[in-house]
Amino acid sequence: MIVAIDGPAASGKGTIARSLAAKLGLPHLDTGLLYRATARAVMDQGHSLADVEAAVAAARGLALTDFDETALRGCEMGEAASIVAAMPDVRAALVEMQRRFAHRACGAVLDGRDIGTVICPEADVKIFVTASPEARATRRALEWSQNGDKVDYATVLTDILQRDERDRSRTSAPLKAADDAVVLDTTKLDVAAAIAAALEIVLARTGAKGPAS
Ligand code: DC
Repeated sequence: MIVAIDGPAASGKGTIARSLAAKLGLPHLDTGLLYRATARAVMDQGHSLADVEAAVAAARGLALTDFDETALRGCEMGEAASIVAAMPDVRAALVEMQRRFAHRACGAVLDGRDIGTVICPEADVKIFVTASPEARATRRALEWSQNGDKVDYATVLTDILQRDERDRSRTSAPLKAADDAVVLDTTKLDVAAAIAAALEIVLARTGAKGPAS
């Protein structure tokens, strides 16, 4: 079974995807990490983030085991990832790696922006997770302040709106719900309720039995 979870920054898609994968016993790929790692490599090599050739070379050189998640998670890297992710050749360089992961014999859960539309249009279940920009900014600000980072809600909200705009308006694989995706709005849901709603969608779509416990 392939489960595709897409949605904008801080919508809850990562948490939902991780939890569904654990409950369903499937491997999980956070595809945002691929773009974050690509941007990190470009920066580490001293190139500009606008350098398409350097970004494509970095994307081609990635291996799924490369990622230092903690180093890639911050706001700065999200913004940088969004810049390289708008480059069609960077996206093309990362397609096969994601499809190979999705088509493992055991199945998989992938989360990102274009899983249901481009990477796995054949996915058994597609969920588009969304939430108001304000709710997403509140969550991100809380998450970062809990990690000890200095955060300012207004700046987080501006960053989220800017990233939404870039991810939605790019020509290559823009952020949007697949026609056959179920939209899950998490604005008013806590984490447990959002996960329960996502699991219900999976079970309704696949007729699969729920997890043992
Ligand atoms: O999900 P995230 O915040 O880690 O993603 C970082 C950036 O990477 C996001 O702004 C857009 C890009 N991205 C993408 O274009 N396609 C994906 N499948 C995943 C992420």
